[in-house]
Amino acid sequence: MDRSTSVRSLDWENGALLLLDQRQLPVRTAWVRCETPDAVATAIAELVVRGAPAIGVAAAYGMALAAALDPSEDALRRAAETLAGARPTAVNLSWAIGRVLARTLETDPTGRAAAALDAARAIHREDETACEAMARHGADRIPGEGPVEVLTHCNTGALATAGIGTALGVVRELARRGRLARLWASEARPVLQGARLTAWEAVRDGLPVTLVADAAAATVMATRPLAAVLVGADRIAADGATANKIGTYTLAVLARRHGVPFFVVAPTSTVDLTLPGGEAIPIEERDGDEVRRIRGTLVAPEEAAVFNPAFDVTPPELITAIVTETGVATPPFRDALHALVESAP
Ligand code: MRU
Repeated sequence: MDRSTSVRSLDWENGALLLLDQRQLPVRTAWVRCETPDAVATAIAELVVRGAPAIGVAAAYGMALAAALDPSEDALRRAAETLAGARPTAVNLSWAIGRVLARTLETDPTGRAAAALDAARAIHREDETACEAMARHGADRIPGEGPVEVLTHCNTGALATAGIGTALGVVRELARRGRLARLWASEARPVLQGARLTAWEAVRDGLPVTLVADAAAATVMATRPLAAVLVGADRIAADGATANKIGTYTLAVLARRHGVPFFVVAPTSTVDLTLPGGEAIPIEERDGDEVRRIRGTLVAPEEAAVFNPAFDVTPPELITAIVTETGVATPPFRDALHALVESAP
């Protein structure tokens, strides 16, 4: 497959999961080798690998490692619980684990290691293909025919998926069609996925990118002819409410104020039809030191109390469309999302 990117977040090699260590980017390119499900769970919790689809794929391989070590049902269920507990918000994690577990338990214990690895590989391949489809559907929806400027948040690229990305995949497709005049990327404090990861991917792949502080987003919207805001998602409730990186809701409010279409781009594995609305989505709160410090350097008093939610929830009424691999949902989202999830392979 022509990936239109040189970036890869993970790989399966000689019975182990290799993860590009995203904590070290853009300073260093280093890989972490995981040989147990516990090592994969720790890597997910510590953001070695991050981004909803990528952590789903990583956890699927974590289940394959578990099945190779001990194919008993007890051991597999324990591994599933450990992996699913690594991070709470992205539903892709439990979706992928559940799928590998079900497929593995259908099989006789002697065949479970192979069955789990097959299931993980299928999830990996499907995510690559889903990214390509989302890129096409999303790019088709961008107004006009000429080159456009778009804004994105956090990192939704090859680092966050097994393919070319979700929202960043759409940006890559716009570039491929000769329609990308400029990508505006907000830095995504406190972990800086926009600055450290999106800007790195974009520069590496030759996309015209301008990085801005999160606080500059209103100025960009007020002064630039933005054709769209494109973001990813960690969990989408049945009504379309979308949990994504903290700061996404702010951008949606600004986009509405400035008449800019606001697109959520995510595979159907991110849609959680069991949750009626956004208030039921569990939001991860991370260590206050992520805010007090930048790269280990204190930038606030050590004693300062910190509230550090990793995600926020954008209400459906601020979302123009939700782009998935099986098609595009527009408001009202409930029936449309159901149909898109049901048509997934
Ligand atoms: O905390 P992170 O870096 O895992 O958060 C990632 C995001 O919020 C992404 O926007 C989301 O997972 C979609 S990635 C295709």
